Amino acid sequence: MALEQEKRFLIQNMIEQVHLEAFPQAANQILNLLNDENVSIYSLSKVVSHDSYIAATLIRLANSPFYGVKNKVTDLMHAISIIGLESVKRLVLTISARSIFKDYDEFDKLLWEHMIGVATCAQAISFKFNLFNENVSYVAGLLHDIGKTVMYKSKLIRYETVIKQVDSNDNLLSIKLENELYGFNHCDVAKELLGLWNFDNLIVEAIYLHHSDKFVDTDAGKLSAIVNFSDYVVNWLSIGRIKPYRAVPLQDLESFNFLKIRIDNMDDFLQEILARINFSKDIF
Ligand SMILES: [Fe+2]
Ligand SMILES: [Fe+2]
Repeated sequence: MALEQEKRFLIQNMIEQVHLEAFPQAANQILNLLNDENVSIYSLSKVVSHDSYIAATLIRLANSPFYGVKNKVTDLMHAISIIGLESVKRLVLTISARSIFKDYDEFDKLLWEHMIGVATCAQAISFKFNLFNENVSYVAGLLHDIGKTVMYKSKLIRYETVIKQVDSNDNLLSIKLENELYGFNHCDVAKELLGLWNFDNLIVEAIYLHHSDKFVDTDAGKLSAIVNFSDYVVNWLSIGRIKPYRAVPLQDLESFNFLKIRIDNMDDFLQEILARINFSKDIF
């Protein structure tokens, strides 16, 4: 068997073994609507209404003090109109992704915080610097390390050892250690899993490339650079990590320079991103 085929076979076995449920139906339909700016409240509520947990969560959110609504919201269409169409799309995807972390132990908690952080940062910079569709950036950020969840749950090797070693050694990258221990890394696993879940090729490619050290001038290349830079920002802020990772100044990153963004005051920028992430963390 060719090496590449053997690697895929091992990954497919691993995915099968961990019984990650299919990505929820509602989320898949929402993914198709991500780029559609003309979607109506009615059509979105129709998609969401099939999933009672998601519908209930949206109604609960619409009633939260953040939206300051006086009369109790009980109807899904009303809830969507309060939260806003674009936010609802992101919320449904996040609630769906959250369901993957069923056991929710210490590792899940840290990784979930990391993924919410990278999603929020990717969305914020895409919007702020007009880089990419902000919803697509959010999804790519949210799922970029999904391969780690599979590796952790498979128990093939104690994945905790990878995290501990990487967290305590600034010069060690997780993909390098994973390649040594497993023969593949979390980007390979994500590519296989998201392919099985029928994700759009753009998101699959961008996630697969998020640890590149050279970025190509394509949509997937640009999206992978957004995720890569957001990943470093979140690690710099020590979100989902035991200690911050600050071995490389953010301005020196290949992804930062590739994206050609101008940040005059890095401290202000980091404060703004941190505030946004803390807000997202409070919701979920
Ligand atoms: Fe990663
Ligand atoms: Fe990451």
